[in-house]
Amino acid sequence: MAMNPKLLLTATALAVLSVIWAFGTTSNMLRPPAIEGSRDLLHKADTVNLTGAVGPESLAFDPNGEGPYTGVADGRILKWQGHQLGWVDFAVTSSQRKDCFHPFAPHMEHICGRPLGLRFDRKNGDLYIADAYLGLQVVGPTGGLATPLVTEVEGAVLRFTNDMDIDEHEDTIYFTDSSTVFLRRQFISSVLSADRTGRLMKYDKSTKEVSILLRGLAFANGVSLSKDQSFVLVAESTTCRIVRFWLRGPNAGKHDTFTELPGFPDNIRRNSKGEFWVALHAKTGLLIKWVIANSWSGKTLLKLPLSFKQLHHFLVGGQAHATAIKLSEEGEVLDVLEDLDGKTLRFISEVEERNGKLWIGSVLMPFIGIYNLD
Ligand SMILES: *[C@@H]1O[C@H](CO)[C@@H](O)[C@H](O)[C@H]1NC(C)=O
Repeated sequence: MAMNPKLLLTATALAVLSVIWAFGTTSNMLRPPAIEGSRDLLHKADTVNLTGAVGPESLAFDPNGEGPYTGVADGRILKWQGHQLGWVDFAVTSSQRKDCFHPFAPHMEHICGRPLGLRFDRKNGDLYIADAYLGLQVVGPTGGLATPLVTEVEGAVLRFTNDMDIDEHEDTIYFTDSSTVFLRRQFISSVLSADRTGRLMKYDKSTKEVSILLRGLAFANGVSLSKDQSFVLVAESTTCRIVRFWLRGPNAGKHDTFTELPGFPDNIRRNSKGEFWVALHAKTGLLIKWVIANSWSGKTLLKLPLSFKQLHHFLVGGQAHATAIKLSEEGEVLDVLEDLDGKTLRFISEVEERNGKLWIGSVLMPFIGIYNLD
């Protein structure tokens, strides 16, 4: 009897993987290729430790220039007050926090909350929060317990709200949920099974209505409006691309591919010139690309008794690193900054350019990075 070809391929893939894991080395198939023109400089970044917290996913400065503020894995939003005063608690997205004292406890995230994207409304200093489990929320300039604005869409509870941007002229918020099936703590399952239930949505502040702009996205992630608000970008992590949705002009309502990237894009943040910094969670090697393109193999991998750590090791190409890419308003690559060996920075999630510095967050690091641009 002939062996089922899928089974054969799976067996082959598994043999390759087991060799990689057994020897703790990275093969050329797993290791992401080098990016042309990249500069290996991010290891020079300064770091600011979080005290008793990890995973500063998004960073935001308030309208007075104070901060940054960041959401961490235990559900708190912290504010940096400089080296003298350090970090202080600013806000929370859940009122049920009595068991939320572990810095990293993914199984508690649906109770404690997990703030991801943060953005200030420059007009009134309100902080908008995309909480992975508790939806879109807002808290006033003095912080405290945030108020939920959107917790369900089309009659279904939001399962994985991720990021947002605010159009202050129109009083609308563009936001993403990465999946309607998977939770944040299951993000590897979403990627490996090539789940396509992510969405880009719009929240109208005055009517409180939500409309869906794009469906079927493969892990909708970071969101950024263009400087002139003519389009909004959304990172599609699993397919390693950024989608542009036109809001104004002759193409309004249409979307296209803004750019393809050499890894999984996380948040996108615009600088004062209108350029975009994209943080990659990791670059992608040939093997992971093949697995994503053949989602039956990813689904098979997920059925095997592999730990989160092993699956993540595979996803990120076997070597922790950091990659930040600057794009023009037209989507051309202007700069690539990396920490190739992950000496200082790893698995970065956001790059915020401000006064000649890059402020860098990560879903896994216990600190933020600050890189001086020349
Ligand atoms: C930051 O944390 C690291 C690791 O725990 C520690 O080695 C380092 O001394 C800390 N830095 C400061 C300035 O506290």
